Amino acid sequence: MPSSGSKKEIRSITDLPGVGPSTANKLIEAGYSTIEAIAVATPHELAAVTGIPLATAQRIIKAAREALDIRFKTALELKKERMAAKKITTGSRNLDSLLGGGIETKTITEFFGEFGTGKTQICHQLAVNVQLPVEKGGLSTPDRVAKAVYIDTEGTFRWERIEAMAKRWGLDPDQVMENILYIRAINSDHQMAIVDELFNIVPKENIKLVVVDSVTSHFRAEYPGRENLAARQQKLNRHLHQLAKLAEIYDLAVVVTNQVMARPDVFYGDPTQPVGGHVLYHAPGVRVQLRRSRGNKRIARIVDAPHLPEGETVFVITDYGIDDPEE
Ligand code: GTP
Ligand code: MG
Repeated sequence: MPSSGSKKEIRSITDLPGVGPSTANKLIEAGYSTIEAIAVATPHELAAVTGIPLATAQRIIKAAREALDIRFKTALELKKERMAAKKITTGSRNLDSLLGGGIETKTITEFFGEFGTGKTQICHQLAVNVQLPVEKGGLSTPDRVAKAVYIDTEGTFRWERIEAMAKRWGLDPDQVMENILYIRAINSDHQMAIVDELFNIVPKENIKLVVVDSVTSHFRAEYPGRENLAARQQKLNRHLHQLAKLAEIYDLAVVVTNQVMARPDVFYGDPTQPVGGHVLYHAPGVRVQLRRSRGNKRIARIVDAPHLPEGETVFVITDYGIDDPEE
């Protein structure tokens, strides 16, 4: 299990024991700029590029692997880790059961689809629902309310919707709004800096949900066209990596949205590919495709989640939030 706060957290290579500033510089120059890169290196490689003793290189690699929790685990350990993941209700039983019970902690859930398919509405609903007590589908415990962070890149957050969705559950709307920490990200660098800052805020505030709506818009605007695709993906990968780490370390849910066009290939490449390309998640990420149906009905489909059965379901967007269609 990741050591949540029990020892010094290893977030960058300079946090690794034996890595001082000059070794760090040599590592970075040689391309070993992340914990992940070091975890998969051999002691000989590291010793060769940095001139550090082999034993030190071994120690650094071991620490990097421990930080990433890369080791043999028993199947039972895996089971316990998965069962320990907590779930937030979406407000729709259909959608919850499609997701295997709700939005899971320790992982990134991505909602993608065209405009108006309900991505932002789901994010609003989750920011409210996370605050519900555990037995009602939230993550609040009797001694601590679970809070949400809402990173808005498009300026589409509406407190009025939060108010309406809180009333639905009989919660005090002002109280619910107090427990949502909102921030507008003005560009991709800012968006990434916010996530770095969250490593300090999250444990203090008992944040159990981090929303990024939308995770891709700034990156797309700042790195337009095919010629910038590689640079964009690289940066986005780094961002998603940080989010995945946050989810894992603090046992919280990360929910991101991603608008895709009717002909995504023109703008974006293959829509069935993960938003950030292939990122090394500790837990499998969940991708949910949303499509419009009749009226306020929307269709959700799970895309390439190895641990969830394939399938589709229907939910509705109402004045009071995400719900199931009337039979
Ligand atoms: P983009 O951000 O443009 O990609 O779209 P999105 O997927 O985030 O869509 P969003 O979640 O904003 O969904 C918009 C839809 O939600 C609208 O088409 C409305 O039908 C519905 N909606 C939004 N607010 C309300 C409301 O107050 N009442 C009801 N009944 N529906 C609402
Ligand atoms: Mg939206």
